[in-house]
Amino acid sequence: MSALVATGIYRRYAGFNALDDVNFTLAAGERRALIGPNGAGKSTLFDILGGQREPSSGTITFDGRDITKMPAHQRALDGLARTFQRNNLCQGLSVLENVRLSVQAHSKAKHDALRHARRHGDLIERAHEVLANLSLSNLASHRAGELSYGDQRKLEIAMAIAGDPRVLMVDEPTAGMSPAETAEMVTVMQKLPRTMSLLIVEHDMDVVAALADRTTVLQNGVVIAEGDWDEVRNSEVVQRAYIGGQRTR
Ligand SMILES: Nc1ncnc2c1ncn2[C@@H]1O[C@H](COP(=O)(O)OP(=O)(O)O)[C@@H](O)[C@H]1O
Ligand SMILES: [Mg+2]
Repeated sequence: MSALVATGIYRRYAGFNALDDVNFTLAAGERRALIGPNGAGKSTLFDILGGQREPSSGTITFDGRDITKMPAHQRALDGLARTFQRNNLCQGLSVLENVRLSVQAHSKAKHDALRHARRHGDLIERAHEVLANLSLSNLASHRAGELSYGDQRKLEIAMAIAGDPRVLMVDEPTAGMSPAETAEMVTVMQKLPRTMSLLIVEHDMDVVAALADRTTVLQNGVVIAEGDWDEVRNSEVVQRAYIGGQRTR
């Protein structure tokens, strides 16, 4: 089953197409990497899927529903979660409180119709469960702002998965991390349940090889290759794209 489908996506900027007829399908439970040289259109596609930018034309469906016009916050509440490269945490609150607030936001959305919010104790319990899944339990009472960079990025993932999304999108999960932090982040993401599809933009090819079932390669706004890592790595078109490097215009 397909979780997230983009059909005929264009994004025009003055004089050129940042995305030029992109067709993209993420299956339920799949782990996909999106790669490509600088300027390829990765962030633009990510934003269009997440609802932070609108396509010039084309449609996005999520579990069969057209969400092209759906605002980003509504997509998140409906199970399409993402993290950002910039930090989205409440620095002054504890790790547990940050996750509890995310759990609460989703729980309200799910229960409003019944006028029945989850009790505070249930929210805390769920927040602890999420922290345990990401090996963050020992930091539950620390202020978010005191965490190392690597742990802050893990906390962002904890907050994104607090509502049990069906798709998790992560923009450069290992950017700026030490090799040890990178290895830990890979382990964390490998442990995510397969009930969740994963889409990452990633520059570190070892991370791509370790995590992705399939990889999509963008260049100049066009999907130039898609397949498992060996196919993509050995593709001549892909090798040329990386040798050719960044967008020239
Ligand atoms: N708001 C914008 N206005 C004009 N051009 C933009 C804008 N955002 C992105 N671009 C251009 O679109 C292309 C794709 O950018 P981007 O999606 O950020 O690439 P990537 O994330 O793969 O490095 C680049 O040439 C970039 O300069
Ligand atoms: Mg980018």
